[in-house]
Amino acid sequence: MSPDFSHAAFTMDDFTRVVVTDKQIGARLDELAVKIRADYAGKDLLLVGVLKGAVMVMADLARRLPPYVQMDWMAVSSYGSGTRSSGVVRILKDLDADLTGRHVLIVEDIIDTGVTLSWLLGNLRSRGAESVEVAALLRKPDAIQVDIDVKYIGFDIPNEFVVGYGLDWAEKYRTLPFVAILKPSVYAEG
Ligand code: XMP
Ligand code: MG
Repeated sequence: MSPDFSHAAFTMDDFTRVVVTDKQIGARLDELAVKIRADYAGKDLLLVGVLKGAVMVMADLARRLPPYVQMDWMAVSSYGSGTRSSGVVRILKDLDADLTGRHVLIVEDIIDTGVTLSWLLGNLRSRGAESVEVAALLRKPDAIQVDIDVKYIGFDIPNEFVVGYGLDWAEKYRTLPFVAILKPSVYAEG
């Protein structure tokens, strides 16, 4: 049964198709949370979310973890135009937490080329953390350009530009409860 979004402030007309439903996201986060809880049992875990895309996955994953798990946030911008990232990364908002001796789990919305994440891993590892691992909701295996070890992955998806569940096009569509491919006509409208 497909979910009923008739109450929501959007129509399905903007999307070619839904890639991951909200129900699939919830079920997968249940599974990942079981693994994370086991892997970090007895450890002091700090989740590091990357703004703004990771807001939804952070909120839904964190609520499946014990209450002493902590959250912190970073905002980075990868220089580049449109839908491509360049590999040059700038910190717009840094963490509040000192990472010395901490177990850090980066929570990401999507790994595309992997360039942003690769930079972030290097940056956080240089701050004296005890461990730095990655949990990403989505990954595009056909787009990856750098070899990164990602411990927790939600879904592998096709190499197409997706929106929803935190991911935007021109700051829109982040609020969708699912992940979908935008229709080309939406891009054309600007
Ligand atoms: P890289 O290529 O460095 O890119 O792995 C990671 C960042 O690029 C953005 N990104 C997307 N945003 N739909 C989006 O809304 C996409 O399909 C997409 N692919 C990459 C995103 O900010 C991610 O953190
Ligand atoms: Mg974006």
